[in-house]
Amino acid sequence: MVELSVCIGSSCHLKGSYNIIQLFQQLIEENRLHDRVDFKANFCMRECQGTGVAVSVNGTAYHIQQETAREFFKDTIMPLTV
Ligand code: FES
Repeated sequence: MVELSVCIGSSCHLKGSYNIIQLFQQLIEENRLHDRVDFKANFCMRECQGTGVAVSVNGTAYHIQQETAREFFKDTIMPLTV
């Protein structure tokens, strides 16, 4: 099971976390990953200084942009689900 969480703290909200959550939900749906990805929203993950929305994948923090969120899902999350 991949533990995936997106920060919805105020700093990340301003950087577009809502759109990233919508996109990840859509991608989980499209790829039928409900039973392989445990997807949550988190309050501030103390990663505000990064450029981009804080995302945690199995405990590792990343900072992602809305523009590259789809690629991030494909390259970083999908391989963990196989
Ligand atoms: S608001 Fe997202 S890490 Fe602080």
